[in-house]
Amino acid sequence: EIKAIIFDLDGVITDTAEYHYLAWKQLGEELGIPFDRTFNEQLKGVSRMESLERILAYGNKSNVYTMEEKEQFAEKKNEMYKQLIQKITPKDLLPGIENFMREIKENGIKIGLASASKNAFTVIERLGVGHYFDTIVDAATVKNSKPDPEVFLKAADQLNVPYENCVGVEDAQAGVEAIKRAGMFAVGVGNAEQLARADLVVSCTSDLKLDDIKRAFSEN
Ligand code: G6P
Ligand code: MG
Repeated sequence: EIKAIIFDLDGVITDTAEYHYLAWKQLGEELGIPFDRTFNEQLKGVSRMESLERILAYGNKSNVYTMEEKEQFAEKKNEMYKQLIQKITPKDLLPGIENFMREIKENGIKIGLASASKNAFTVIERLGVGHYFDTIVDAATVKNSKPDPEVFLKAADQLNVPYENCVGVEDAQAGVEAIKRAGMFAVGVGNAEQLARADLVVSCTSDLKLDDIKRAFSEN
């Protein structure tokens, strides 16, 4: 039985995954490390510093910069990202998400947020959906970032729901991996090949339907 559904934020509730991409892409170009959307899949769900390390490794520049310089790069990316999220309004909720959350509530199922972003509270506030969440766990309170399961485990603990009664919803490979390691049922939003580890994949948020998830969950 499903007792809680725990959402990722960026790329699931709203399309901030695109803003992360644009900001990293800009920084990458400044560092002489251009990359495309295919490489970007490896950055989704991954913490800020780890994302930077992956970009530097991709450009064979892992050992070129000091820790101080790396922190400046990460800071620069974050400033660009913060500019982009200033424009967010409730209209930027992805299609069907609010109806889906309402449906979950009506079924007496709890809702959690498990985000690797230090900007999660700002984004949720700008979207005006804070009241849907029974708990919010963000990057400020977890030590290990996805694919480590910590953020999902912590959300379930705070909801007081056993892991096997939880469903996680993710758009990132690292996120789906984190959900599976947490012993939860994983719903992927996006490309079925990229999210092959998920128990159920829908191509977009408007296809998230509680009945479909309940059916797949009970067949699992
Ligand atoms: C989410 C996003 C990642 C981002 C990470 C850290 O997991 O999917 O793309 O790098 O959060 O975000 P932050 O806002 O703390 O830099
Ligand atoms: Mg995401």
